[in-house]
This record gives sequence, structure tokens and C-alpha cells, in this order.
Amino acid sequence: MFNALSRQPDDALLALIGLYKQDPRADKVDLGVGVYRDEEGRTPVFRAVKAAERILLDGQDSKAYIGLEGDTVYLDRLWTLVGGEAGARVASAGVQTPGGSGALRLAADLALRGGATRIWVGMPSWPNHAGIFAAAGLEVATYPFFDTATQTVLFDRMIEALDGAEPGDVALLHGSCHNPTGAPLSLDQWATVAATLEKRGVLPLIDLAYQGFGRGLDEDAAGLRHVIASVPEALVAVSSSKSFGLYRERTGAIFAVAAAAGAADLARSNLMALARTSYSMPPDHGAAVVRTILGDAALTRDWTDELNVMRARIEGLRRAMAAGLRGAWPALDAVERQEGMFSLLPLTEAEVLRLRSEHAIYMPTSGRVNIAGLKTAEAEAVMAKIAALR
Ligand code: LMR
Repeated sequence: MFNALSRQPDDALLALIGLYKQDPRADKVDLGVGVYRDEEGRTPVFRAVKAAERILLDGQDSKAYIGLEGDTVYLDRLWTLVGGEAGARVASAGVQTPGGSGALRLAADLALRGGATRIWVGMPSWPNHAGIFAAAGLEVATYPFFDTATQTVLFDRMIEALDGAEPGDVALLHGSCHNPTGAPLSLDQWATVAATLEKRGVLPLIDLAYQGFGRGLDEDAAGLRHVIASVPEALVAVSSSKSFGLYRERTGAIFAVAAAAGAADLARSNLMALARTSYSMPPDHGAAVVRTILGDAALTRDWTDELNVMRARIEGLRRAMAAGLRGAWPALDAVERQEGMFSLLPLTEAEVLRLRSEHAIYMPTSGRVNIAGLKTAEAEAVMAKIAALR
């Protein structure tokens, strides 16, 4: 049977990890996969995570199963962080998932069960979005989102496309820190998106994977809070990978928002049934860590402080990037006003590969850069090498 299979291409983004590792050059620069790095190039374990892990190590007295829903205290505390007051005013049901990807897959499975056949994904998007939705069986339609050459959001065209969606379709939105463009929507634009989806009877699926890396914890959730307050139903996929630095612990959640508790409960019961026939129960550790941090004022403060330092570092690097690139591409002045780890440079695939072979600067062939992969001291020199392509 296995001989009948055809070989699958490596995931282009994840393959970069191996290519970078194998490169012997000492001055290599990793702007590839979206993980935060500090000035030393390390992806640190948050101090609050270490402290929570010590508490768990001493206090945990069983490894017995928790259940399909996962850790309900984690879910409650995470929903407060994500939804804020808007989240408290709507009926909601959360299920803990293996990372944000697990949340997106369950969201797609639930939408299909609810009768959806099509999801609208903005272009460009995280490459795996379309992969996850198509694997679940949804037809993936696209709406224009961003023009790389001018670094602008194609808002009118986005709304025009969403206005053509059918009732019962799903529309994917990035909560903040758009991956791969870093381009934010204003609150007015969020309001227009929400009104359009509500008018068309389209279910919003909001992917929130970088809360705290854009403008701040509340600021990064402001758009989605507006949406959940404006539409009768929505899905919110949350990742704790970046915000809590828990990447390999695979910690996330899917939240279904509804106008009434009955509908939210139905969503929860179906999400749990879908999980049971997929991975059954989610891994516990990451959720236990987040629950511990968010349940302790001092740990929450320390986690927020460390997150704020990370965000400030990225903002500083954005200023250095814009300064180094705006001479070659005036449009890249926008990098300074974009948010989160990513920006999308207007480079050809050949130029990206040249940077890799000639200068050991690694980024995916799309031209997306993980800005957190830069060190402040090297930023100017790296930008000069990129600008020299023009
Ligand atoms: C990324 O976009 O680099 C991250 O979300 C990591 C991943 O799983 O692709």
C-alpha cells in the first residue's frame, strides 16, 4: 500500500529550520519560522512559565485524563484575556486544542457540520490556513487583502469580495499581527468588516495567534471584540504558542460565540465530539501553565512585563528596518507602522534565494521576514544587504 503513495513536498516554512541549522556560516541570520527570539537569538522560556512549572511540579498529584474539553479553568481565564468585557457579554463555549492549528481544524470541522461548504481566506495568508481548511473538506475561496509592492491593505476590494459571500459561508480574519504582512486594520475597518459579515450572514473565524506582540494585549484583541459584539455567531481560534512562548507544548483553544447559551452549548458538544474522533484529548501541560499564570496576579504581571519587552524590541527593529529599506523601496516606510513579528518584503523568489546563498539570510521564498529573528546590532548591515538587491 505504501508504495502507491506519492512523496509529499516538505512544508516549505518548516523546512527552513533544517536548512538554517545546516548552514555553517557564523554570521547567518534566521528570519524564517515565526518564533520570538531575543538579542542573543534564543527563544526564551518566559520567567512566569518557569515559575508556573515549578508550582505544577510540586503540586500536580495525578496525570489522569482531564477530558475532551480540556482544562476549563484555562479556558475561562484565556477567554477573559481574549474577549475582555465584550467576551463576558456574549454566550461562549471553549474547547482546549493542540495549538492554534488544532483550533483552526476543529473550527473548520464544526463549520462543515453546521452546513458551511466554503471559507474565504484573505490573500496573502499563513500558507497552512488554506491547507487546514481544504484538508477538513471546505472549499477555500480567496479575497484580496494586501498589495506587497505598495504595502497597503486592499480594503475596498476585501469588502467587495466579502459582500459577494453567500449566507452560511465562513470568513477567516487575523485578529492582529497579520501573518505574513503585519498590516493592521483600523477599528473603523473592523466595524465595516463586522457589518458586512453580519449583513451577508457569514460566520467570522478569527485567528488570534500573536496577542500582545502588536500594540498590547487589549489593543490586539480590540478588533475581534468588536466583531463578537456585532454578529450573532463567531468562532475564535486562539494560540498560546507565541503569547506564552509555549510553542512545542501545543496549547490553544477554539471558542464558539453565540447569541444565546443554548447555541453555544451545542457548539461545545459538537467540538468535543469532533475532538474525540480526531486526537481525543488535548495535551495538558501548556494549559496548566497558562491557567497558573493567569490565576496569580504577580505571575500575570511578570508575564505581561516580559511580553512588553519583547514587543518593544520588535518595534525598535521595525524602525531600524524601515530606516534601512525605505531608500531602496519607499513603500517599506510602512514596516514601521506594521505590527507583530512579520512583514512581507517585495522580493522575488530569486532574490530571496540569493540572500540565502550569498549572505546566509534566511526567509521563506514569499519574502516574509520574522523581524524578531534580527539582532539590533546586525540590523543595519542585514538591511544594507537586502537593499543592495535594488
Ligand atoms: C509561522 O507562521 O512561522 C508560525 O506560525 C509557525 C508555523 O507553524 O508555521
